Amino acid sequence: MENLEEKIIQADSLEALEKVRVELFGKKGVLAAEFAKMKDVPGPEKKAFAEGLNKSKAALQASFDARYEVLKSEEIEKVLKSEAIDVSLYGTLAQKGALHPVMETMDKIIDYFVALNFAVESGPMVEDDFHNFEALNLPKYHPARDMQDTFYFKDGGLLRTHTSPVQIRTMMETKPPIRMIAPGSVFRRDYDLTHTPMFHQVEGLVVDDKGKVSFANLKSILTDFLQYMFGDVDVRFRPSFFPFTEPSAEVDISCIFCAGEGCRVCSHTGWLEVLGCGIVDPNVFKAVGYEDVSGYAFGLGVERFAMLMHKIPDLRSLFEGDIRLLEQFR
Ligand code: PHE
Repeated sequence: MENLEEKIIQADSLEALEKVRVELFGKKGVLAAEFAKMKDVPGPEKKAFAEGLNKSKAALQASFDARYEVLKSEEIEKVLKSEAIDVSLYGTLAQKGALHPVMETMDKIIDYFVALNFAVESGPMVEDDFHNFEALNLPKYHPARDMQDTFYFKDGGLLRTHTSPVQIRTMMETKPPIRMIAPGSVFRRDYDLTHTPMFHQVEGLVVDDKGKVSFANLKSILTDFLQYMFGDVDVRFRPSFFPFTEPSAEVDISCIFCAGEGCRVCSHTGWLEVLGCGIVDPNVFKAVGYEDVSGYAFGLGVERFAMLMHKIPDLRSLFEGDIRLLEQFR
């Protein structure tokens, strides 16, 4: 029986031990064969023989159980080791999103005016003729309506062509003084390198008692704003025309690409046009029922700002959703 014990101790895996178990304790195993010898043992010796055999069996069983425990816990160790996870390892980076450059630019613009106590207003994108044109001193058949390539609905509604109708809505809803900006999407039938049918504007409007709001105020805030956006640029105001402001101006910054030398981006003038503005036309105040007030207004295209700030040559690339472009703004 001693070499049987050896067999148990030498089993070096659970499979090997299982083989040993069948060999010893199985129906056709060594122990079964020993017990079968009982019938040949003479009567008086039977008891001692059986006792001896049972003792041996118990001893073997104990060795077997002990070996089983050892091998089992070794096996568990092995599995734990092979399935261990190194939590300090870097994983593969998941794709992550980022703010779109147009929204980032819009936020930067909004931040500037909010810091100067401007309220942020909004209005509907589907507008009517009154708010988008009529109240802004653009009567029907006025030739200046041609400047706005309007999308019309069959029922007479339209997609707002600028954020200026929010001026009208805000003035009709509140009393002066007013100090507001209106960021939002606008729509025009236009599509080329620098135009898309949907783009974004930020409108500005300041209204206060007559004589309190001047062109000088407008000039100083816009100059400071443009230097906040573009750095150390020169700013110039050029006489222009908008039906809702009088006088009106377009505002240029010194070209940030050629530093005044003249290049293709600034059409060799050394200047880049960035926004429109002016003193609110009295007819606009009349349309909203305001009396004895003065005000200035301005409007700018957010995409144009984003293109200049990030040197993006084709406006349309901002709206194609190409991840290779967007990834550059993470
Ligand atoms: N609404 C004008 C445009 O879309 C911009 C503007 C706004 C000009 C306010 C003057 C005053 O071109």
